[in-house]
Amino acid sequence: MSTTYETVKEKILSEPKTWLITGVAGFIGSNLLETLLLLNQKVIGLDNFATGFQHNLDEVQALVSAEQWQGFRFIEGDIRNLEDCHTACAGVDYVLHQAALGSVPRSIADPINTNHTNISGFLNMLVAARDAEVVSFTYAASSSTYGDHPALPKVEGIIGNPLSPYAVTKYVNELYADVFARTYKFNTIGLRYFNIFGKRQTPDGAYAAVIPKWTAAMIAGDNVYINGDGDTSRDFNFIENAVQANILAATASNEAKNQVYNVAVGGRTTLNTLFDALKESLSRNQVDYNKTATYRAFREGDVRHSQADISKIQSLLGYQPQFDIIQGIEKAMPWYVQFLD
Ligand SMILES: NC(=O)c1ccc[n+]([C@@H]2O[C@H](COP(=O)([O-])OP(=O)(O)OC[C@H]3O[C@@H](n4cnc5c(N)ncnc54)[C@H](O)[C@@H]3O)[C@@H](O)[C@H]2O)c1
Repeated sequence: MSTTYETVKEKILSEPKTWLITGVAGFIGSNLLETLLLLNQKVIGLDNFATGFQHNLDEVQALVSAEQWQGFRFIEGDIRNLEDCHTACAGVDYVLHQAALGSVPRSIADPINTNHTNISGFLNMLVAARDAEVVSFTYAASSSTYGDHPALPKVEGIIGNPLSPYAVTKYVNELYADVFARTYKFNTIGLRYFNIFGKRQTPDGAYAAVIPKWTAAMIAGDNVYINGDGDTSRDFNFIENAVQANILAATASNEAKNQVYNVAVGGRTTLNTLFDALKESLSRNQVDYNKTATYRAFREGDVRHSQADISKIQSLLGYQPQFDIIQGIEKAMPWYVQFLD
């Protein structure tokens, strides 16, 4: 029996749509772009290269046919500028809004810029998409919205207090989305991503996520630092599962809209286990890392444990994660070995 995802992919292949991906030059955005172009969709991409890269777009171009690449139009622009948002939304069926300044520590260092992009930029996108009467608006929410609530696994309706400016911005997105449904009958879907990882997630910079940061350190033979005792845990989710969630959300029926959904695997992996898994996978890619990890202080604003209940997205959107963390790491490592060579 075919999965909901397979059925939806067949449908959009036979009736191509126009998609807008904001943050298209970033990690998640460029992976969405790759999948949608391979499905012969028309894609408009908006990005200001704040944390995204031209090389991500170049890489996608190399992976699709010339004809598929013709279906892509890139707009270098900024979601903090309403006019750019209106331009990008014109003629669009499905919006996948990914553009934001990610990272908890970045938001602690610079809450104002995080606020401008993640809240004002988000509001601009909502207004522009509403005005353009798009069919659906799916946006990147975050597991950070669970904040200090200790319950595990995380269920969508039970959240705590935010632990960082970043978490505030992602929660405000959900509040605005809800108000747009009430006030303008503009229904959206928020995807609360739990630690997404995979190819094109940058290992560079102070705000890199743990998997690319450690992978790069291991490939370079540098020290790997674990913040805290290593027992901190996360529900790491491979990028292709997140792409699936976006495509299912964009094409969902009206009944499934005006909701937020956890996007995860439903597992929980400690940092200590992650360290070993990366080491083992890299050794299968001819990279032998012989150092032990160095432990240091816990990081401010970090949630101690995170694990999602994914029953809502499974039952309402038909989401079925195709890769667990180990399978995801196995798929991601060859890319890093090649990219960092
Ligand atoms: N990666 C994760 O694990 C994770 C977890 C939870 C939520 N998210 C959310 O998912 C989304 C995508 O994250 P990512 O990991 O791909 O990060 P990323 O930094 O790789 O991508 C974000 C993209 O948005 C662009 N951007 C930033 N500000 C912009 C602006 N003002 N105008 C236009 N473009 C702008 C950046 O240049 C970049 O290309 C973000 O909203 C992030 O908060 C990610």
